[in-house]
Amino acid sequence: MLFDTHTHLDDERFNEDRDQVIEKVYASGVTLAVNIGADMASSKESVALSEKYDFIYAAVGVHPHEVETLTEADMETLKQLAALEKVVAIGEIGLDYYYDNAPRELQKKWFLRQLELARELDLPYIIHDRDAHADTMEMIKRVGYHRGVLHCYSGSAEMARELLDMGFYISFAGPLTFKNGKRAREVAEIVPMERLLIETDSPYLTPEPHRGERNDSSLVRFVCEKLAEIKGISVEEAARITYENGKQFFGIQ
Ligand code: NI
Repeated sequence: MLFDTHTHLDDERFNEDRDQVIEKVYASGVTLAVNIGADMASSKESVALSEKYDFIYAAVGVHPHEVETLTEADMETLKQLAALEKVVAIGEIGLDYYYDNAPRELQKKWFLRQLELARELDLPYIIHDRDAHADTMEMIKRVGYHRGVLHCYSGSAEMARELLDMGFYISFAGPLTFKNGKRAREVAEIVPMERLLIETDSPYLTPEPHRGERNDSSLVRFVCEKLAEIKGISVEEAARITYENGKQFFGIQ
């Protein structure tokens, strides 16, 4: 059994065959998944998927690319969605200084606001940090509530150690399997097994040997296999531990 802790099955790339894909995912042994919100619409779609499928849970939140039009009324809406039974986290939220699709000051403002929302609701949160490591750390420290995961981790080993000390989880996706994923593999080596999560971030970041194809949650097993190899444990053991970690992190019974 596998747990894909970060997927976007609501993405338009699944519009033609979403139900079949989701059935395939479940049949492949992925018996838990969290569908992640990236804007207000996809947060609502995440909730809808969680209501339709027993094994899918939802996170609601707004990605740094999408913050420019956010309002306090949207925060109220997120709060209402977050009260639903199968909504288990706020996310994905964070900073993206690689694409810079929204002004950095606005990214920071709404990242902090959503961190505060997670704190207020006593929910875990999912962080997207691309080329914004220093400011991400600053925001986390400012909010003082450290129940989060760094998704598709791309920071240094040093930053990972600091995050682990604060209680964070670290999650790895397809890049762990990439030829140029050496840095991610080095970080995975030093993160204690009980703080690791695995994910696909599908339809993005397709793992080897499927790079170039559309990603879906069934391919999380390739991330699991690579992690097992890095840790020198069996694939079954890596699957079991990351599954339990995910349940623990998201508070799923
Ligand atoms: Ni994502």
